Amino acid sequence: MEKIEIGADRLHYPMPCSLIGANVDGRPNYLTVAWFSMANPKPPYVMAAMNKSHYTNAGVKANKTFSINIPSAELVEKMDYCGLVSGGRADKSGVFETFYGKLETAPMAVECAFNAECRLVQTVNLPMEELFIGEIAGAYCEERYITNGVPDMRKINPLLLLMAQKMYASLGPDVAPAWGAGKKLMK
Ligand SMILES: Cc1cc2nc3c(=O)[nH]c(=O)nc-3n(C[C@H](O)[C@H](O)[C@H](O)COP(=O)(O)O)c2cc1C
Repeated sequence: MEKIEIGADRLHYPMPCSLIGANVDGRPNYLTVAWFSMANPKPPYVMAAMNKSHYTNAGVKANKTFSINIPSAELVEKMDYCGLVSGGRADKSGVFETFYGKLETAPMAVECAFNAECRLVQTVNLPMEELFIGEIAGAYCEERYITNGVPDMRKINPLLLLMAQKMYASLGPDVAPAWGAGKKLMK
């Protein structure tokens, strides 16, 4: 199998899309973030890489809180808008209806299917990005998106970013059980 070497500037894989929320100058601001992930199971830490130029970063650092909101595909226009326009130039506080949880300063978007409010625990200073690591303090989901007590991604229908193609996609069909498909190869 012959491989050709390609640009070493990034990883190529589909990325789930989120809206990260923070209060900036006293009002909610949301930006689109695809570079986010779980980072630790107990306590539940998440991480989000946010470019230092972004308006939202100051709010995360000032309040030491932020939220992660997962939109369904039907919110694609609003989500893309939040990734095109900076809160430093336009007021994005009205794009979504906002609610607050126990942390009181992490704005969450009502329209998004899943919301997590996070307490900032660490900021890693990278050359261009600030990697915000937060502990999930509260998580919220509408009942219609829940199956057997957990958020059901088939019902939520999240957006995936195909970065090189500059395209949003949705989940494909199921392939095989996770932590199951490989069992037949176990000795
Ligand atoms: C699909 C998509 C994904 C994005 N992912 C990220 C990301 O992971 N990290 C980041 O710093 N910016 C990301 N951006 C860019 C910011 O969302 C964008 O610059 C935004 O306008 C910044 O908003 P703010 O200045 O109000 O904070 C993304 C934009 C789009 C459209």
